[in-house]
Amino acid sequence: MSSEKIRIFDTTLRDGEQSPGCSMTLDEKVTLARQIEKLGVDIIEAGFPAASDGDFQSVRTVAQEIRNPSIAGLCRTRPGDLEAAAKALEVAAKPRIHTFIATSDIHMEHKLRMTRERVLEEVDRAVRQARGYVDDVEFSAEDATRSDWDFLVQVFSAATAAGATTLNVPDTVGYTTPAEYYKLIKHLRENVDGADKAVFSVHCHNDLGLAVANSLSAVAAGARQVECTVNGIGERAGNAAVEEIVMSIQTRPEAFGDVYTDVKAEEIYASSRLLSTVVGVPVQPNKAIVGENAFAHEAGIHQDGVLKKAITYEIMTPQSIGRPSNELVLGKHSGRHAFQDRLAELGFQLGKPELEQAFARFKTLADKKKVIYNADLEAIVSDEILRTDDRFKLGNLVIISGTFATATATVELFDDGESMKATCSGDGPVDAVFKAIKELTKTESKLLAYEVKAVTEGMDAQGDVSVKLLDGERSVIGQGAHTDIIVASGKAYVRALNKLEWHKKQHSLMEPKGI
Ligand code: KIV
Ligand code: ZN
Repeated sequence: MSSEKIRIFDTTLRDGEQSPGCSMTLDEKVTLARQIEKLGVDIIEAGFPAASDGDFQSVRTVAQEIRNPSIAGLCRTRPGDLEAAAKALEVAAKPRIHTFIATSDIHMEHKLRMTRERVLEEVDRAVRQARGYVDDVEFSAEDATRSDWDFLVQVFSAATAAGATTLNVPDTVGYTTPAEYYKLIKHLRENVDGADKAVFSVHCHNDLGLAVANSLSAVAAGARQVECTVNGIGERAGNAAVEEIVMSIQTRPEAFGDVYTDVKAEEIYASSRLLSTVVGVPVQPNKAIVGENAFAHEAGIHQDGVLKKAITYEIMTPQSIGRPSNELVLGKHSGRHAFQDRLAELGFQLGKPELEQAFARFKTLADKKKVIYNADLEAIVSDEILRTDDRFKLGNLVIISGTFATATATVELFDDGESMKATCSGDGPVDAVFKAIKELTKTESKLLAYEVKAVTEGMDAQGDVSVKLLDGERSVIGQGAHTDIIVASGKAYVRALNKLEWHKKQHSLMEPKGI
């Protein structure tokens, strides 16, 4: 039997963006999409065009900029949703419309309030409408794993008859198990009319920690597309992680029926770091493949084995995922080239002006710190470069604080270039700075979380501050880095406010996404 290809469908920009705090601005999405294209995925789901003007613009811009993978836009079966998706994708080199409707009795009765017959009509109409716009149409039966199997066969048969080319079987609530999912995929492949003309796809959520295992089990049963996200981000407990799917297949191709992907594994680490930097959500240290400890051997017996022969305890190498081997990177004598090369390894492809700006910031930091680590570089780029359309910019800060004095902060803030100042006192210097910023921006958002950590080790380490804000239903995370943690705190707060501003500008066209 010859090896068969598994298509990798990346939904970091759509389902991934539905993780709390992970909403991204347009520029952030384009930056990430470029790296995900470099990763070599087959399809990028760029968003949900009917959800808001912002989503529409994001899908359109990604479709314009990213030419190698297919670009998918998600939509419900509503005619207006399909129209919006078709319009956003009209500039794409390889457009795909991805339409979905729920098929479980629970969803049909309580959410859609539709009968089975009505759902079947919707599937037929929506897929035909989508085929009127593009040749590549994916249909998803939301909550498939809690749907009646006979009904699912009817639904997917209707979708193929109407022209769907990919049939997606989502485990929307992360409920299934590997053995059960295997049987479901096999059942559908054997019973759906026209199954041989369509690609079966899987989309697993991680509520029980089984998203990757379920996806791989489905591959063994004949699924040929896997939907996943970088670092496994996504709604609730997240989606199947692309790096885990790809490295499982690369390391054990025979275990899943002799399959391969076209993903360039050496781009995995850069993609993971870039996403983490862009959304401000760290990767847990023991995360498979990309976590800080994924290749660290602590026990003496393991270290001894690895030194004698790496294969004793290592089933893959850090180099295979593009993880830089030398963590200690640059110092004040490092030149532009070394700087640019290391940024590229971390997933940052900067234009000339951004590169100059980042390099200047690096030189200033190198004067204060003896050695500059990867994490310092990520902090510089995320802090200064990954933003172009910010409304607010932090100017100068003066702080009075100590055991005898009431903490007081005078903050200068630029609002679309116009300087404003406020002085406030507070319960500590960070509180005083936040109060002043609040006064100047008149924000009504609530501070949900505040975290400070050292970017690297050493007394001269930069402080990395993360601020989570909630405004209405939207939560965002802002990050700021500086050798002074009060300045880093101010930057992180202003960054989070800028993200909220960006999302506010995107007029919402529909009620909550309802996925
Ligand atoms: O989880 C899910 O069911 C989805 C679909 C829209 C594919 O995200
Ligand atoms: Zn999902």
